Amino acid sequence: MSIKPVSRIVGTGAGIPKKVVTNFDMEKIVDTSDEWIRTRTGIETRYFVEEGQKTSDLGTEAALNALKDAKVSPKEIDAIIFATITGDVGFPSTAIFVQKNIKAHNAAAFDIQAACTGFIYGLELADALICTGRAKTVLLIGGESLSRITDFTDRNTCVLFGDGAGAVVIQASTDERGVLATFTKSDGRLHDLLKMDGLGTKNPPTSDRYHEKMNYIQMEGRDVFKHAVTCMGDAAEHILEKAELTYDDVSLLITHQANIRIIDATAKRIKIPPEKVYINVNKYGNTSAASIPIAIDEARRNGRLKDGDVAVFVAFGGGFTWGSAAVRF
Ligand code: ACO
Repeated sequence: MSIKPVSRIVGTGAGIPKKVVTNFDMEKIVDTSDEWIRTRTGIETRYFVEEGQKTSDLGTEAALNALKDAKVSPKEIDAIIFATITGDVGFPSTAIFVQKNIKAHNAAAFDIQAACTGFIYGLELADALICTGRAKTVLLIGGESLSRITDFTDRNTCVLFGDGAGAVVIQASTDERGVLATFTKSDGRLHDLLKMDGLGTKNPPTSDRYHEKMNYIQMEGRDVFKHAVTCMGDAAEHILEKAELTYDDVSLLITHQANIRIIDATAKRIKIPPEKVYINVNKYGNTSAASIPIAIDEARRNGRLKDGDVAVFVAFGGGFTWGSAAVRF
């Protein structure tokens, strides 16, 4: 009798741009203050790509680091999934450029777009590919260059976002470690609350309707905040139930790093004490689909996430989309 494979994260990596931007730097760009940004969001710094640097460059660095960590050759990769809302070009996908850069010529490569929940959607897909025997090794990347779609005249949004990429190598395994459960959901009725209107077929750059603001993130901050707290709390509760875990079983909660107050509210909802909550929004800001894989990599490197630990991931983003996953490392 063959044993059903589980999908296990066997390596992690990150690619962070070098240019650090502090809240004091933001004070020089818009009418804001370090004090306002820190108290409302928890953010102190963020990183921005340099001129000419692309999302695929960050993703490539993260991928190479994850492959090195996993001791896996690019030739072994069956699928590359890149979660992003800031791909290099309209098409082909950003995963295609990573494939070329890392010489993973045996892989299928494609992007998925679920905004800040992209990594969770990608993990669910990677898990399905592996558990149904369609792939043995999947490279999953979450990467963004949000500074490229940020309106630096809008203080409501421009202080929130940062750039970066995180990657995980996922392989079929037969031991008890791996993805325990995943959960994804969306509600298209709320698409207008967090969006970028341009650069698609609705408002092509050649049309009369097109204007510069369509290149930027637009957000109804208070509405997003309210829904994020409710949906991330629901997703966190749901995944504990689905994976048959109690909050005592959870070693680390890694939420999408959007805002310290949203993270705290999610942890409270599933009764996870602050010492089990991973926070790096202070350093990177909101990096959308990249935030969870960057945090996973950092937590493994600084000893917050050890072999045998159970981690719960929870995310929420434009669409709205939301989701969660439970993983034993
Ligand atoms: N600096 C100084 N003042 C500011 C700034 C700023 N950067 N931005 C807004 N303000 C002002 C507003 O103009 C407003 O002034 P007013 O009262 O004179 O009109 C005042 O601060 C309060 O604004 P609020 O919108 O009430 O501030 P709030 O406490 O809701 O915080 C924030 C705003 C941080 C955007 C919050 O709503 C939030 O975190 N929302 C979630 C958004 C988010 O994280 N989105 C990311 C994408 S989705 C995701 O990743 C989950």
